[in-house]
Amino acid sequence: MITARKTFLPFALPSISEEAIEEVSNVLRSGWITSGPKVKQFEMEFGDFVSCRESIALNSATAGLHLALEAIGITEKDAVITSSVTFTASAEVICYFKAEPLLTDVDAVDNLMTAETIQELIDRECRFDGKKLIHKKSGKIVRALIPVHLAGHSCNMEKIIPLAKSYNLSVIEDAAHAFPAVHKNKMIGSWGDFTVFSFYATKGITTGEGGMVTTNHSHFADRIRVMRLHGINRDAYNRPGWYYEVIDAGFKYNMTDVAAALGIAQLREAHGFWKRRRDLAQTYATEFKNLKGMKLPREDANGMHSWHLFRIELDPNLAKIGRDTLAEELKERNIGTSLHFIPIYEHPYYKKNFHFEKKNFPNASKMYDRTLSIPLYPGMSNEDVGDVVNAVKELLS
Ligand SMILES: Cc1ncc(COP(=O)(O)O)c(C=O)c1O
Repeated sequence: MITARKTFLPFALPSISEEAIEEVSNVLRSGWITSGPKVKQFEMEFGDFVSCRESIALNSATAGLHLALEAIGITEKDAVITSSVTFTASAEVICYFKAEPLLTDVDAVDNLMTAETIQELIDRECRFDGKKLIHKKSGKIVRALIPVHLAGHSCNMEKIIPLAKSYNLSVIEDAAHAFPAVHKNKMIGSWGDFTVFSFYATKGITTGEGGMVTTNHSHFADRIRVMRLHGINRDAYNRPGWYYEVIDAGFKYNMTDVAAALGIAQLREAHGFWKRRRDLAQTYATEFKNLKGMKLPREDANGMHSWHLFRIELDPNLAKIGRDTLAEELKERNIGTSLHFIPIYEHPYYKKNFHFEKKNFPNASKMYDRTLSIPLYPGMSNEDVGDVVNAVKELLS
């Protein structure tokens, strides 16, 4: 007989304190609820946290990736490299420009884009004329690289940045999972030309929906500030009078003060959230270390893992049950799971429009067959964790 939890344990949940609710309420009562002083404060505090000069708050990370590509002037004549193992946002923003998304495979252990997987793609599909990297099949110029810090484990930026420089590529880090994370004593947020964070409901900190771009390039920051609000040269809060000018056809990507108030409160709790996530990850690691056929995510040897996700990998030849059965059995026991991610090349839109060859992604394909993300979030009680541990052990030992 199955022993299920009484209530469903979701795969992820936000943690919202009473203080945070109070601060959001204060903004709601203040008479200024759209972009204003709270957004400014959140940007400054976030920039200080990750040690980056410029921070621009937006209504999503997707908007941030879009505006970073816009700032460097991506057009339909260009191509951009990203990881095959990511959420569609990292690839779809390339398509917004009718540019060509190029996908790397990932490493077999952490499922990250690496300098080696980038080089492999370049050697196979591109040629370098000394100045420009050209994608041979489409004739497009490769202009940028979007590494994805999957699950909160940083890509090796110390290797990726010099490689990108050698081919004149801008680096836009997708750090949707990587707050707070450290790589070689430097916070994620201060490495690439741009770093893009997500404050979606389940992320390291949340604003409901939201995102932040950090950059040390002031001219790009200025461009993003203009383009996040219709291409208007002054935001509404700072406008001295009624006059403003539209200098380009921009977007409606600004963050509201309501969201920023939540972000400010969450930022204060970020370290505590991270600590609880790491403690839970350590509990899983200790409890599962003797389970046959199960590979556990590892600490970041080069820094600090954000522990956004806890992704396990099951070897079909050694584990007692397969990944799909494990997910179904956990659901029977009232425990939610998820998968990060269905590789980009598996989705109908990308299949139809870009014809990626599966044989070029051996590690991503293996990952897709074998991995599962189990619940990991600060609001989980010790009892919740115990339920997951007991269920997984029962099913796999
Ligand atoms: C890797 C990755 N990149 C980008 C995004 C997009 O973030 P947002 O929902 O804030 O646009 C997500 C969202 O889950 C993600 O997982």
